[in-house]
Amino acid sequence: MEKRYVTTAIYYANGAPHIGHALELVQADAYARWYRQQGARTFFQTGTDEHGAKIARAAEKAGMPPQQFVDSIAAQFAALKEPLMLSWDRFFRTTDRVAHWPGVQEIWRKLEERGDIYRRKYRGLYCVGHEAFVTEKDLVDGKCVDHGEAPEIIEEENYFFRLSRYGKEIQRAIASDEMRILPAGRKEEMLAFLSRGLEDVSFSRPRKDLAWGIPVPGDESQTIYVWADALTNYLSGVGYPREEFREWWPADIHFIGKDILRFHALIWPGILIAAGLPLPRNIFVHGFLTVEGKKMSKTLGNVIHPAKLVEEYGVDAVRYYLLRSVPSGEDGDVSKERLQHLLKGELADGLGNFASRVCALAGREGTLKVEKLDASLKKILDNTRKEVAAKMNQFQIHEALGIIWKAIQEGDIYINRNAPWKSRDKKVIAMLVVLLSEIAQLVAPFLPKTSASIRAAIHLDGDALTAKPLAPLFPKRNAGE
Ligand code: MSP
Repeated sequence: MEKRYVTTAIYYANGAPHIGHALELVQADAYARWYRQQGARTFFQTGTDEHGAKIARAAEKAGMPPQQFVDSIAAQFAALKEPLMLSWDRFFRTTDRVAHWPGVQEIWRKLEERGDIYRRKYRGLYCVGHEAFVTEKDLVDGKCVDHGEAPEIIEEENYFFRLSRYGKEIQRAIASDEMRILPAGRKEEMLAFLSRGLEDVSFSRPRKDLAWGIPVPGDESQTIYVWADALTNYLSGVGYPREEFREWWPADIHFIGKDILRFHALIWPGILIAAGLPLPRNIFVHGFLTVEGKKMSKTLGNVIHPAKLVEEYGVDAVRYYLLRSVPSGEDGDVSKERLQHLLKGELADGLGNFASRVCALAGREGTLKVEKLDASLKKILDNTRKEVAAKMNQFQIHEALGIIWKAIQEGDIYINRNAPWKSRDKKVIAMLVVLLSEIAQLVAPFLPKTSASIRAAIHLDGDALTAKPLAPLFPKRNAGE
């Protein structure tokens, strides 16, 4: 049986989850559910990134010991599981000394054995927001463009990873799609970057300046760089360094945002090649979400908590909005007006209406006999399945949904053409129930709750078919009142 290992980035435990995190989680979840439905053995991992200067400072600001602070934030991320119906198999935390630390330290030793770790005196500009050294070119008016703060000048002795050694190999892996980066524009971006050559990267910080992290094996005076620590979660989460990690590694797909592509497309394969491990098969890069056209920020007070949005609109409305209205790989915007528009137009009047029409028609007929779909319906369904699979393989989730919605429209047309409410043609009605249950299957990875409600209304016993009238799947809510 095929296996699929699906991951999201791990979220910095420095603040509450927002709708941008939900975008990534819901995309990854749709894939995990899709792969399971296709019969693949699937492991879906997410979690929190809990070390480094950024977290240590956030904890200090909150007046809490760091461990207690990250415990509280990690709990908030873990609590997204239920409201968003996320089906992850493991929620992984980098402060887990048993499950995570040995893997990170083993990777360090592997790199050291290869002669890829060396000590060096270094002076550079460190952006805590990025948890990375930046250069003058990355700054505008002396400040980091993404974080709006001036980087710190750091002068210290630390360890470096000889990433420059692996530029050629990384370039080859990306160009040949051995490690496929999607969308294609992101692959080109990384190849252009690689053509200028890679520099070695700082891989540790003196413990006296940064104690919140994993110690360098054999040198307690240094802390492992937070990105080396964080990236390794993809390995340690499935058991590394114990051999069992090979059951899942290499990852089939890393879901990440465009801001962390370089870490995943350059440093991560560098580490893996140096450690003699296979590369992830796909990296899917999504864009950024804004809220009503603005960047989310605490100061603007426009940060949307995913669970609150679910409370207002329902889980599948939120999932559908994220998956359908944000073109895969591109930036998107959360607007309540557009959410309500989709909820009414495509969910309530589209899928919801079709499902309740079919269940109402079938409900009054009592027991029906299962019918094979007629040629026209069968063709629609076969094509839909094929096209959905093709779009999913290309990571075009929004288009996969568009295709399913066309099939729903065809279902409506079929009802109108055959007018079974007049004819009470049992064969037509039974076929519609079969079509509806197929559509419920098709939407299951994206809209798990709706899919389950539809399937619960349909009862199959041998070739006897009954359907119960369906409560509105997408009832009007007094949102925001
Ligand atoms: N901890 C690192 C990742 C380490 S992975 C080994 C990190 N954390 S983060 O919390 O800042 O971001 C986690 C993920 O959320 C990233 O993929 C990032 O792109 C995504 N998003 C954060 N804000 C976002 C939006 N506004 N919109 C969409 N995704 C966003 O980076």
